Amino acid sequence: MKNRALLSSWQKLKNLAEQNKNVHMNDLFAIDKQRFEKLSIELPSLLLDYSKNLITDETMASLMSLARECEVEGWREKMFSGNKINFTENRAVLHTALRSRTSKPLNLDGVNITDDINNSLSKMKIFTDKVRQGQWLGFSGKRITDIVSIGVGGSNLGPQMVTEALHQYSDHCLNVHYVSNVDGTQIADTLRPLNPEKVLFIISSKTFTTSETMTNAKTALKWLTSASFDDTAVEKHFIAVSANKENVINFGIKAENIFDMWDWVGGRFSLWSAIGLPIALYLGFEKFLELLDGANEIDQHFCNAPLEENAPVILALLSVWNCTFLGAQSQALLPYDQPLHMLSAYMQQAEMESNGKSVSWEGDSIEYPTVPTIWGEIGINGQHAFYQYLHQSNNIVPADFIGSVESVTPVQGHHETLMANFFAQTQALMAGVDEEQVRIDLKAKGYTQEYIDKVASHKVHKGNRPTNTILMERISPKSIGSLIALYEHKIFVQGIILQICSFDQWGVELGKGLANSIQQELLTGQVSHKHDSSTKSLLKYYMNKKK
Ligand code: F6P
Repeated sequence: MKNRALLSSWQKLKNLAEQNKNVHMNDLFAIDKQRFEKLSIELPSLLLDYSKNLITDETMASLMSLARECEVEGWREKMFSGNKINFTENRAVLHTALRSRTSKPLNLDGVNITDDINNSLSKMKIFTDKVRQGQWLGFSGKRITDIVSIGVGGSNLGPQMVTEALHQYSDHCLNVHYVSNVDGTQIADTLRPLNPEKVLFIISSKTFTTSETMTNAKTALKWLTSASFDDTAVEKHFIAVSANKENVINFGIKAENIFDMWDWVGGRFSLWSAIGLPIALYLGFEKFLELLDGANEIDQHFCNAPLEENAPVILALLSVWNCTFLGAQSQALLPYDQPLHMLSAYMQQAEMESNGKSVSWEGDSIEYPTVPTIWGEIGINGQHAFYQYLHQSNNIVPADFIGSVESVTPVQGHHETLMANFFAQTQALMAGVDEEQVRIDLKAKGYTQEYIDKVASHKVHKGNRPTNTILMERISPKSIGSLIALYEHKIFVQGIILQICSFDQWGVELGKGLANSIQQELLTGQVSHKHDSSTKSLLKYYMNKKK
């Protein structure tokens, strides 16, 4: 496999980045009246405008050559057909199959996984209908009113983000709570107001070994069993979603209460599986299917659209352009719809756990910058907090702006104010304002020359800051499914271009292992001599203070 930096398109892009250093997007818009038409894509449930990037026809052509030289189409085919592209773990990557809604067989190691998926969906439907219709009863015969979903990372962020995003679509026949932190505060606060007779716990863990999840699950079990004298309470109140049946059964959950997970679904891509059970319980199974359909629509687009019109491919190439070639080190995600308030937390795991790596497929150190830090907030809140930095700092932060044509909660006068800000920000970030204009404006407002001389340079906005705008028609199960899948495939393409194995996460293992041994030290009070002096002293300080 050729080192990416040696590809001819890579070299071309390097030169273009150098040549474009002094180009301003204002000029690119001025010389090309068709820029928006050329650099935007309309998909069934969203519009992507990427014209406010520092790109020319030549840049786009070179980025497309890069995608071709990196064989993105071939890798896409490998992923969808079940090749073990997660080669460090020897696993296929088939989260797309979870939403293909087909009966067409897909064989993996001699197993038709289409059957497994469809069986799991049927089991989810029967179960969600039962609980939602009040036919699944707790140990004292009362109907379930509250779901407590215990899981962390990919076994939490997706379901929780989607639950929040789609809360307007719930009939609220069930409350859904999420516990991810092993800080006892979260589970204690969650359980305090609840009645154990009416609570159903879902323990979501692909491995069923994650210590935070296991600790929370044991606390939940104790809470339930101390409230009931019924031997069958656990089977009425505990469900698991896991690929590790043995551990689930050893924990005390009945085999019938286990929903399958498979090694070919990565945790951070798993909300489409039974890990999405809390979503289905909250919204109803039909809406869960709409979410899958929205994602499948993007899968079809990703597989069939030419690279030049392929939204996830374009988003990935722009990220590589902005970060690897133009030097941006972080990327903001700025949703304007309040229901999307967890989107950036979700995308942090999706992109940074996937591609936050620096070793190539061959095991060599990658010398070029890979993916940026992903961060963000609800746009309006950000405007009154960190947008100052986006507009005027020396660091360029490319940003994705995400909004909707219609609000899911129309309140008179609100949506136009919201969206006026949405549109204003990307224009301001792109166009900026120069000193001459600042001076003209201040003069027109009647300020003295002395004041103008003092503040003019402070009010200059250089602009030229890249943004993508994603405009959905409206938040809905379908559009949210599409939005997430759009980013999932962006991340996949990014990984191919940067030669990163996107589907493992070895970087979380070292800390996990150390935490296990330190936990033993905390329990026994014996500090190991193997620690560095800082860690050793911190542990001693902590233990002494505790006494
Ligand atoms: O943080 C590491 C990680 O392995 C994630 O990739 C995963 O989503 C999360 O932990 C939870 O893992 P599990 O579902 O096995 O509990």
